[in-house]
Amino acid sequence: MIDKKIEIKYKEYDTINDLSNLDFNLIKLTHENLGNSYSPYSQFKVSSLILLEDNIKVLGTNQENAAYPSGLCAERVAVFSAKSTHPNKKIEKVIIVTEQGHEFPFSPCGSCRQALMEYELNQKSPIEVILKSGNSKIWVFESIKDLLPFAFEAEDILKKE
Ligand code: THU
Repeated sequence: MIDKKIEIKYKEYDTINDLSNLDFNLIKLTHENLGNSYSPYSQFKVSSLILLEDNIKVLGTNQENAAYPSGLCAERVAVFSAKSTHPNKKIEKVIIVTEQGHEFPFSPCGSCRQALMEYELNQKSPIEVILKSGNSKIWVFESIKDLLPFAFEAEDILKKE
């Protein structure tokens, strides 16, 4: 038996003023979009922005439904819309902002990590993830891999001998 460990890297910023101008503006745009969240059941507003190459920005918010499982998280609304309208553009960043927050930001759910991982593996370049919740600190992950270690990779099932 061997005890093994993995390390996950991320950056923490105290305020948005410590970020680059680009990231500051992306968070601002994502935050301004929170009002478009349709979340009458949870009252938990989430907004997401996908930055594609060529500076294309696609926004999404969580969309709920009286039949609860029919709703969808903001990140998946945003990324599915981005890839539906610009299928050949690489994803550079995903910003996820929630209205409520504490000291540290909320993390995306497992299904959203998996959905984002599909595109990261496919495009063969990392997707940066930026998280901010209310007045929380900001967390920046260089790659979806840091949020979803040991991910399921389709390459393994597609391999033919
Ligand atoms: N939600 C998101 O939009 N993204 C996540 O990663 C986690 C949760 C939404 C789903 C639901 O509308 C509300 O937040 C409460 O779970």
